[in-house]
Amino acid sequence: DGKQVPKDFLHINDFDKDTIMKILNRAIEVKAMIKSGDRSFQPFKGKSMAMVFAKPSMRTRVSFETGFFLLGGHAVYLGPDDIQMGKREETRDVARVLSGYNDIIMARVFAHQDILDLAKYAPVPVINGLTDYNHPCQIMADALTMIEHIGRIENTKVVYVGDGNNIVHSWLLLAAVIPFHFVCACPKGFEPDAKTVEIARSAGSKIEITNDPKEAVKGADVVYTDVWASMGQKEEAEYRKQVFQGFMVDEALMEMAGPKAFLMHCLPAERGVEVTDGAIEAPNSIVFPQAENRMHAQNAIMLHVLGA
Ligand code: CP
Ligand code: NVA
Repeated sequence: DGKQVPKDFLHINDFDKDTIMKILNRAIEVKAMIKSGDRSFQPFKGKSMAMVFAKPSMRTRVSFETGFFLLGGHAVYLGPDDIQMGKREETRDVARVLSGYNDIIMARVFAHQDILDLAKYAPVPVINGLTDYNHPCQIMADALTMIEHIGRIENTKVVYVGDGNNIVHSWLLLAAVIPFHFVCACPKGFEPDAKTVEIARSAGSKIEITNDPKEAVKGADVVYTDVWASMGQKEEAEYRKQVFQGFMVDEALMEMAGPKAFLMHCLPAERGVEVTDGAIEAPNSIVFPQAENRMHAQNAIMLHVLGA
């Protein structure tokens, strides 16, 4: 639709629907190959990736490193104490130096501006591995998981219960590309960014922001939740536990959602806080296939940005 083709993967709505679906179909294809034990597809042979983490991670770190390796490449992990982007060295310097050694940069940062700066100054593709604003790789994995379990994204009802955070923003940016019904049930004062809500609405998706999780979940295809205090907000955790009373996803809420509802969570989960142990361990919980799909979705994202 006339959008400029970006070298980076920073926001889902930087791409048109065709491209997003192509990436997801590629993920299905390469996943089948990897799961079959076939290791003959080595498109990243001789390539290296720098992975910059300003925050902790299990899924993002391991899925990117293992995924890049399985397709022939070598990934370098740089933890919060290594680069100290913006502290020890300016982001624009980090961008150009890492681009001299690597074919691709993946980064997890605090301020969204940091990933924009990194992408602006790096001649190589930059992949967003989560910022305070969004988490596009997570939602690509979630979309892949929905295709596998529900058969589609379009015309589904996804109900997110909890904090209107980076995960919600990425759901909204997916809704700006593929039309579906997205509901965010959050306490007053914890709504997602209004501009991002508007981007999704003006693209034609039905978006509802509500404070009533019980009403919201009715008829959902997916009930989704995430921690109430994100990385960088952990000192607010106790206060948030008070404010978020009534927003825990438990078996009773899943019952209200109805028989077709799957439970999804990007993980890490705090059982007994935003979600119960029983809800996570229930048969309709797909959180572990969802986590595994991080790797497969990202492999396809890396193939896309590297033109491989
Ligand atoms: N879901 C997710 O991004 O997990 P990590 O923080 O462990 O990478
Ligand atoms: N909203 C969470 C997601 C973790 C994957 C955070 O930013 O900490």
